[in-house]
Amino acid sequence: MNRHAIFEKNSIVLTVGILVAVAIGGLVELVPNFYLKSTIEKVDGMRPYTPLELAGRDIYVREGCYLCHSQMVRTLRDEVERYGPYSLAAESMYDHPFQWGSKRTGPDLARVGGKYSDDWHVQHMNDPRSVSPASIMPGYPFLAKAVLDAESMTGHLKANAIVGVPYTDEMVAAAAADVMAQANPDAAEDLDGFEARYPNAVARDFDGNPEAVTELDALIAYLQMLGTLVDFKLYDGKADINLR
Ligand code: HEC
Repeated sequence: MNRHAIFEKNSIVLTVGILVAVAIGGLVELVPNFYLKSTIEKVDGMRPYTPLELAGRDIYVREGCYLCHSQMVRTLRDEVERYGPYSLAAESMYDHPFQWGSKRTGPDLARVGGKYSDDWHVQHMNDPRSVSPASIMPGYPFLAKAVLDAESMTGHLKANAIVGVPYTDEMVAAAAADVMAQANPDAAEDLDGFEARYPNAVARDFDGNPEAVTELDALIAYLQMLGTLVDFKLYDGKADINLR
């Protein structure tokens, strides 16, 4: 037992001892990952963002919404009871960069899709205190007036494809048309094509202004799809079959 004294009395030996212990711990944690085919397990329902949703996501990042909102429900009971099923890794597999966030001044948004009507979002983005009197969220009234640059989405899809999002050449070619199709389905020439490319995407006039496709259309399209792709009802109470 006295051998312990060697470590306690000699700081160099103690430092080396700590490094060896930490290195062993690190290897045990890291090495198995190199033998896994993928660290993200596939989950039914996940698909790349539609061009309109991706545009909304870019606006979300541009406006710094992540500074006040997280997009990750943790595996803790209070979180699951408040927000819904905890987040799966696959749910952010097409996010570059992910929007998990590190601060909740406002609530988590990972499952906000479908929680409110489009009208509520229009009101809330225009003037948060008109629907949530004590809110400290800033208003973003300019989004409703900013016409969305649909053409630029071709480049955004290409860039995402380069970093591994499975956008096909067909999706890239149709990007600008798909933006218009989703935000204004009544005037769309190839709505069936859009729906085939992006299963379960919702097409409608999100901001209630049929005159133009605005940045608000894109942002609401994005918010309304958050957390809606994976059907957690199928997996209720059977935690281990939700992963294929
Ligand atoms: C200064 C911090 C702050 C910023 C920045 C901010 N929010 Fe909020 N947000 C809040 C707070 C606080 C609430 C809760 C009160 C309310 O509903 O307004 C909230 C609520 C929300 C809600 C309703 C969530 C729910 O479940 O009730 C949505 C949706 C939302 N914000 C979206 C956004 C978007 C999109 C942006 C960026 C364009 C944004 N927020 C930027 C603070 C912020």
